[in-house]
Amino acid sequence: MKKLWGGRFQKTPEKWVDEFGASISFDQQLVEEDITGSLAHLAMLKKTGIISGEEELQIKSGLERLLEKAKNNELQFSTDYEDIHLNLEKLLIDEIGPLGGKLHTARSRNDQVATDMHLYLKKNTEMVIGLIGEFQHELIKKAEQHVETILPGYTHLQRAQPISFAHHLMAYFWMLERDKERFSDSMKRINKSPLGCGALAGTTFPIDREYTAQLLGFDSIYENSLDGVSDRDFILEFLSNSSLLMMHLSRFAEEIIFWCSQEFKFIELDDTYATGSSMMPQKKNPDMAELIRGKTGRVYGNLTGLLTIMKGLPLAYNKDLQEDKEGMFDTVTTVVGSLKIFAGMIESMKVNENIMKTATMQDFSNATELADYLAKKGMPFREAHEVVGKLVYTCIEENKYLLDLSLNSFREASHLFEEDVFEILDPYAAVKKRMSAGGTGFKKVEEAIEKAKSIMSTVKE
Ligand code: ARG
Repeated sequence: MKKLWGGRFQKTPEKWVDEFGASISFDQQLVEEDITGSLAHLAMLKKTGIISGEEELQIKSGLERLLEKAKNNELQFSTDYEDIHLNLEKLLIDEIGPLGGKLHTARSRNDQVATDMHLYLKKNTEMVIGLIGEFQHELIKKAEQHVETILPGYTHLQRAQPISFAHHLMAYFWMLERDKERFSDSMKRINKSPLGCGALAGTTFPIDREYTAQLLGFDSIYENSLDGVSDRDFILEFLSNSSLLMMHLSRFAEEIIFWCSQEFKFIELDDTYATGSSMMPQKKNPDMAELIRGKTGRVYGNLTGLLTIMKGLPLAYNKDLQEDKEGMFDTVTTVVGSLKIFAGMIESMKVNENIMKTATMQDFSNATELADYLAKKGMPFREAHEVVGKLVYTCIEENKYLLDLSLNSFREASHLFEEDVFEILDPYAAVKKRMSAGGTGFKKVEEAIEKAKSIMSTVKE
């Protein structure tokens, strides 16, 4: 099979060698971006007089027919033509004849593929930002229903202090907000056009790069042609931002998984987001949350993979760069799926408020209240800590909780204790009083939800 670049060759590789080098099996995902890039390049060739108006019209109608067929999944690709760029060039020539070969004037596959990737990530980063927003909306909705639902807050996975369930959910809201900011910020760098950098050195044709950038909706152009064709930072940033996002989802997934275990029973997942066991009839497994936790690994892998591909590459284009695509596609699929699943899982889950509340009574997470009580009455906090620690020890010995102690026992520990000690031991009251900025006091949580809502309604540039 004669290659489109076959002029200086006497022999062609064997089929299996061709297959090893080909990317068409996966880069066909870029078909629409590739044609969009070509249409802009074509308009520029006409504007600058590099091709005639008549030529432009014919090539354009050929490209538009190909785009139509691409949308209907009617294009036949072949490894004989290696990648999406050469496949489309061949299909264009089949469609309109040798004139199709003029489209590649003043262009290389190197600036072409980089342009495709920028267009692809622009579209998909916007989609990811939108899906993060939808998930945040679900969190807000759930949080609004559970401002006064209390559960133990943990450190070291040991019950620490009671908190509002809404406060816990909103912690994830703010993580996601930072994720969204990072993706939005990366758009500045995605929004640069490499088109017109040529193979590496620019071109002798009088091209207009600003014009193609503008047609493609990019804000600016790469300043340096070598950088333009070999930069993959924007993909790395996407993978890195996705890794952080997945890390957040994975932490949340971990909590969902143990919250719905028999040991916790804080929540129950809806049947539509759980699965059964083929052997044990009683099982209801949180597979989706587990998969999100597991898939986080592949996203980290994609990031590490591309960082490793890039680290030794001399300027400018090297075929190694063809390896940038599969991890990127895979990451988009993984992130999009995980965000959608998570939003549905949170929306449909049942919250066992009573079990959460009971858990706050059956522990010592009100011990800090007691120490604060003594400290507020003038005892140095370190001493108060010691007094309460001893009371906790006594309770453990006697198989009791702090609320079970009599006023006498409290007064034996410190004469500062009075009747009102029982009020402050109530976990609900303990949560309510945590009114410091960013704290879990119900009023503060309500304010935080309002703030989150107003952030969400502000349209970002
Ligand atoms: N399929 C190639 C890639 O994905 C396109 C660029 C090829 N350029 C070249 N000179 N071989 O990177």
